[in-house]
Amino acid sequence: MLRTRFTFTSRGVLLAAACASLAGLLAVGCADGLAVKQQPAAERPKATSGAISSLERGSDSTAYPLNLPSTDKLRGRAAYTANCQGCHGTYYTAAEKADLAKDLALAEGHVDKNKVVGPLKEEGRYPALAPKNGPDFYDRDWRFQRTPGQVFQLLAEGSAPEKLGLPKGKRLQHPGPVPGPDGKPLRNADGSLRMEMGRGWLDFMEISRGGVKYAPGDPVPVWDALFYVWSRSIAGHSVTRFKEVWDVYGQNCNVCHGTIGKGDGPAARTIYPQPFNFTNRKAMAETTDEFLFWRISEGGQFTKIPESIQQTMTPQALSLYVHQWSAMPAWRGVLSDDQRWMAVDGVRSKSYDHE
Ligand code: HEC
Ligand code: HEC
Repeated sequence: MLRTRFTFTSRGVLLAAACASLAGLLAVGCADGLAVKQQPAAERPKATSGAISSLERGSDSTAYPLNLPSTDKLRGRAAYTANCQGCHGTYYTAAEKADLAKDLALAEGHVDKNKVVGPLKEEGRYPALAPKNGPDFYDRDWRFQRTPGQVFQLLAEGSAPEKLGLPKGKRLQHPGPVPGPDGKPLRNADGSLRMEMGRGWLDFMEISRGGVKYAPGDPVPVWDALFYVWSRSIAGHSVTRFKEVWDVYGQNCNVCHGTIGKGDGPAARTIYPQPFNFTNRKAMAETTDEFLFWRISEGGQFTKIPESIQQTMTPQALSLYVHQWSAMPAWRGVLSDDQRWMAVDGVRSKSYDHE
C-alpha cells in the first residue's frame, strides 16, 4: 500500500493536469500573462547566476536548508502568494475554507463578510485563483517520490540533472522568470513577469507581487515556498490535521526520537544505533516521503530495501541513513496506513516551521 493515494479534493486537478501536459508537450503556457514557452536547450543560457553552486550540498549533491524553513504568513505563504500563486492557484487552510464557506453563505444576510475576506484580500488570496499549472498540492502524490533537495533544485535552477531527477520518468524542468541583459527579469506588456521552462527562481523571488525582491541568490524564500506547498496536504486536510499528526508522533515516537525530534527521547540513551535525528536538515532534504513511510512501516528488522524505494533515493543517501537491525519498531499492523502517513508528516514537520 505504499502508493496509497491521499486525495481529498479534486479541485482543479483535471484543469491543472491538462495545462501541465500542454505546457510540457506543446510548449504552451496556461496562465494569463504568465505564458510558459519552451526554448531549445542549446539556446538557453545558464539558469541562474550560479549562486546555487556556493550553497552547501548534501551527500546526494542537492542543496539543503541551513536554517529552519517556515511556511507561515510572513515567509512561506508570502513567498508563495507573490511568486507561485499566479500559476499554481490559491491553497486555503482547512480553517480558512470552512470560514469562507460559512461567511459567503451568511453574506446574503448582511453579515460582515469582510471580517474573513479582508485579511485574505490583504494577502492577495481573495478571490481564490484556480490552479492553472502543475500538480494539486493538496494531494501528496506529486512529492512522495521526490526529496526536498530535488524539488529545491528544480525550483531554484529551473531544472534537475538526470541523476537527481529520481525516480526515472519524473519531470526535470520547471518554469521561472527570464533575465534580461541587465539581469532584471523581463516583463510582458501587462507588467507580469515573462516565464519560461527551465528557468530558476533563485535570483528572482519577490517579497510581494510586483514588488521588492529578495537578495539575488537567497535560498531562504525558495525553501519557504517549497515547504509551504509541501505542507498543503496537512493544512488543507482538516482543521485538526496538524494536531492529529503530532498526536501520532507524540504517542508513539517521542519516547525514542524526542519531542523536538533530535533523537534524544527518554528511551534513547540505551539504544545503538541511536534513534534518528529529524532536525538533521541535510538528511531530511535527501529523504523521500515514500522512504519514510516504508521505514516507519518496516522498522529496523528488514532484510532488503525494496527496489522501488531504492529508486527514489540515491545510494549515498540510503547507505548513510539506513541501519539494518536497529531498535526502530515496525509500525505496520500497529498504526493504520493513514496513521503511518501522519507519522511521515510528523517526522517531516520537525524539519520546517508550520503555518
Ligand atoms: C509560470 C507558471 C509557474 C509558476 C510561476 C510556478 N510554477 Fe510550479 N509548476 C508549473 C508547471 C507548469 C509545473 C509542472 C511542470 C511539468 O509538468 O513539467 C509546475 C510544477 C511544480 C512543482 C512540482 C514539481 C515536481 O516535483 O514535479 C512544484 C513543487 C512547484 N511547481 C512549485 C512552485 C513554486 C514553489 C513556485 C513559486 C516559487 C512555482 N512553482 C511557480 C508552473 C509554474
Ligand atoms: C524504541 C525506540 C524507537 C521508537 C519508539 C521509534 N523509533 Fe524510529 N528509530 C529508532 C532507531 C534506533 C532508528 C534507527 C536510526 C538509524 O538507523 O540510524 C530509528 C529510525 C527511524 C527513521 C529512519 C530515519 C532515516 O532517515 O533513516 C524514521 C523515519 C523513524 N525512525 C520514524 C519513527 C516514527 C514515525 C516513530 C513513531 C511512530 C518511531 N520512529 C518510533 C528508534 C525508535
